Amino acid sequence: MSTSSYLLTEEQAASPPSPRRRTGLPRLLASLPRGGAMSLAEHLSVHGEPPRPRRRRAHSGLIEEVERAGLRGRGGGGFPTARKMQAVAASRGRPVVLVNAAEGEPASRKDRTLIARVPHLVLDGAELAANSLGAHEALIGVCESAVSGFDALAQAIAEREASGLSSVAVTLHPVSSRYVAGQESALIDLLDGGGGLPRFTPPMPFERGVARRPTLVANVETLAHVALIARHGADWFRELGTPAEPGSMLATIGGPLAHPGVYELETGTPLRALVQAAGGLTHEPRAALIGGYGGVWVGAEHFSQLALSDAGLAPHGGGFGAGVVFVLDAGACPVAEVAALSQWLSAQSAGQCGPCVHGLHAIAERFVQLRDGVGGNGSHAAEIHRLSAVVRGRGACGHPDGASRMLASALEVFATEMDDHARHGPCERCAAPRRLPLGEEIAA
Ligand SMILES: Cc1cc2nc3c(=O)[nH]c(=O)nc-3n(C[C@H](O)[C@H](O)[C@H](O)COP(=O)(O)O)c2cc1C
Ligand code: SF4
Repeated sequence: MSTSSYLLTEEQAASPPSPRRRTGLPRLLASLPRGGAMSLAEHLSVHGEPPRPRRRRAHSGLIEEVERAGLRGRGGGGFPTARKMQAVAASRGRPVVLVNAAEGEPASRKDRTLIARVPHLVLDGAELAANSLGAHEALIGVCESAVSGFDALAQAIAEREASGLSSVAVTLHPVSSRYVAGQESALIDLLDGGGGLPRFTPPMPFERGVARRPTLVANVETLAHVALIARHGADWFRELGTPAEPGSMLATIGGPLAHPGVYELETGTPLRALVQAAGGLTHEPRAALIGGYGGVWVGAEHFSQLALSDAGLAPHGGGFGAGVVFVLDAGACPVAEVAALSQWLSAQSAGQCGPCVHGLHAIAERFVQLRDGVGGNGSHAAEIHRLSAVVRGRGACGHPDGASRMLASALEVFATEMDDHARHGPCERCAAPRRLPLGEEIAA
């Protein structure tokens, strides 16, 4: 398995035009222009024409190809994409494709990068998926803060309409930058004219989604992969990655690195190779938060052995999720970081279910008391574990599950620092600037 990766920064030199069926990396980020979005003409010269259906549903072979490719969703849950497409195709009524570019995870930049730089690849994927399902419409929910991505998509849609390339009606919809806004039922609620709050399931989106129609909700990166699988096939897709988790994926790496940013890597790449591609560490690391704010903490002592895949993260109790890696340096106070994160996550809840309103709030309070040295670590840790078990699986969405799992992992990885705080209260590192990005709504 090759471990090459592809750095995306504004300074990067433009790659020369590439063969359409490329081996190795990059795939999604191939031949990017120096700045801004790839035009339709550039896109067609780099990737070639997307296969066109001769009639509706004529391209249903795409679902089988996606199944053979073993593509799993890149929005965080890792669900097999073909299974979702099959379920939508089997449901009654005219389906809709809902493209998820909400990217509510503050430490992730990969979705906004993709739509800002290669909007046509995303649109190809959305249209090909729609064709395979017999859908006439694709709706794209875009985070309101991803302004250049929104503009690039709008421009790309206009280019396709002018050139007669588009085969379905594509519309753009701004989505709030709240953490839960990108949860699939919250997106559906928003597009149905609601307040963008998660809904209890069933019914699942594939049976009743936007306007009560069968809805394929897919992340933008997932659909960009679909666009390439439709062109090059499942065997090509499987040339990279591991047999269980094939293909390439985008990762956002942040923290004390020479070149933090968005990289394309093959699934299963060692963390040390990603760190190296990002120019190496600039400060001694203490740990990394992997998979995002619903992911898991991993201590720096494991970095050299860690593979970036669900299988590699499983022994640590998590998965690679939407490809977020945030390295925390040893100069930061992990207890203060985790306390601030727990408050933020509690404030992000839509506040409509008990587990968030009571459980996440109570967990955050315990972390703040731990940070401040109020009460003993043992009782706080036990109570946080108890509350975590209580909140899991009880909300309308997976927010309390992910948040409580991540916070429980912090208790283990930072056990020494938690003990110190419980005994002595705030440390000198508590006053250092917070490292973890918390969007605009930072808890007080
Ligand atoms: C709290 C929460 C927030 C989520 N936010 C996003 C998001 O911002 N973008 C996204 O693509 N998926 C997000 N998801 C996952 C979606 O619900 C859904 O699984 C995904 O869009 C499906 O696409 P995929 O199969 O291509 O991954 C979130 C899930 C949860 C529980
Ligand atoms: S579980 Fe929490 S975030 Fe999800 S809908 Fe309920 S209150 Fe909102």
